[in-house]
Amino acid sequence: MPLAAKRTALGSRRHPRFMSARVRVLLCVTGGIAAYKVVEVARSLSELGCDVTVVMTRSAELFVGRQTFASVTGREVVTEIFADSGEVAHVELARTTDLVVLAPATAHTLSRLAIGAADDLLSATLLMVRSPLLIVPAMHTEMWEHPATQANCALLSARGARFLGPASGPLLSGDSGAGRMVEPSEVVNAALDLLKAPSELAGLRVLVTAGGTQEPIDPVRFIGNRSSGLMGFALASEAARRGAKVTLVVGDTSLRPPSGVDLMQVRTAEDMRTAVLEAASDADVIVKAAAVADFRPSRAATKKLKKAAGAPSVELVPTPDILKELGHNPRLRKAGSLLVGFAAETESDPQELARLAADKRTSKGADLLVANDVSSSDSGFGARTNRAVIAGPEGSVDAGLVTKTNLAEAVMDEVVRLLKGRADA
Ligand code: PMT
Repeated sequence: MPLAAKRTALGSRRHPRFMSARVRVLLCVTGGIAAYKVVEVARSLSELGCDVTVVMTRSAELFVGRQTFASVTGREVVTEIFADSGEVAHVELARTTDLVVLAPATAHTLSRLAIGAADDLLSATLLMVRSPLLIVPAMHTEMWEHPATQANCALLSARGARFLGPASGPLLSGDSGAGRMVEPSEVVNAALDLLKAPSELAGLRVLVTAGGTQEPIDPVRFIGNRSSGLMGFALASEAARRGAKVTLVVGDTSLRPPSGVDLMQVRTAEDMRTAVLEAASDADVIVKAAAVADFRPSRAATKKLKKAAGAPSVELVPTPDILKELGHNPRLRKAGSLLVGFAAETESDPQELARLAADKRTSKGADLLVANDVSSSDSGFGARTNRAVIAGPEGSVDAGLVTKTNLAEAVMDEVVRLLKGRADA
């Protein structure tokens, strides 16, 4: 998605992309008042030429009748795992779809998805499906903001699901706040973007670092940081989605890395340097989203330090600055490769972030530098969203506060733009 892109509502004309091959979309509807908005999503996607199959939960049927969806899609709505014909619906549905849209996604459904439940048609299908998944949450603000829901979303994002919304605005309860389902036209546009399966990075190798390093003090203690790995995983997934062969160098994380990438697991800054330099020589793009410790204990005790011995003094020495080394020593990289750094800044003002990003871009010798604000709970370490500015050779772009998936898209858009500029030059 281009930065700051705001699409207008789609017209009802047939989308040229779908003139020849029909695309299959599975629209999973769960029980929330916003289910009525999804009728419009089903109608638009059908009119654009997609084969839309609607799966509803029992509670979704309390809000919209299945006949409504059947009428706008021209296809029977499925609700039961075992049909009279003897077919097992979830297996067939999961294997034959190009895209799954889950809308509205209730807090309950997100939690079931996160634990891998499979006790109705919708959950069983989602557990089997391997095509892209677009999740469109809608719920009360308190439910959305609850740490359980946020943790479920982070887990699902890390597994590769795309989130759209929720928006802020009036809610069913009469309150106003975050939790409102985004408008149907936005869901349709996001679905079309995912169906496009861009191949701009096909044939290229992308190296991404994610997570934090751990610098041991003794066998059980270390200097570390709060990086979850989510930002790096989103970047790796996005590069893979665009056709790149991705190597992911991962430090400490409790999340499962995305599938379909080559994984190199490391612990310390020194380990990360070794892994990165090994993979850098044939990488076309290097993205350094890992939070690398700047200092490590000069020596790690071989045995656990005993409390009875009193507080130890730990001498710190600098770790190698991997980004800077890559930025200032072109021989370590493939000719013409692109270097993207990140900067963790405790700064929320976009202008100040832009200034810091530009400074760090120069000092580290990077082509692009993404400065993200790590001063608030909705941005930076461990958050599902991120507030960032991307500095490049021609200035900077304010990506605003967006999901890490969206920020990854914006970063990869800039990467593709720069690569294209170099190829055209
Ligand atoms: O993992 P998440 O929970 O999703 O959080 C994401 C993030 C906040 C960790 C990520 O978006 C981020 O900002 N990563 C970079 C954090 C960081 O180390 O910032 P820095 O300003 O200290 O370093 C600048 C750059 O130099 C980074 O690209 C870093 O990878 C690199 N670096 C730093 C030190 C070092 N010794 N070697 C390096 O290569």
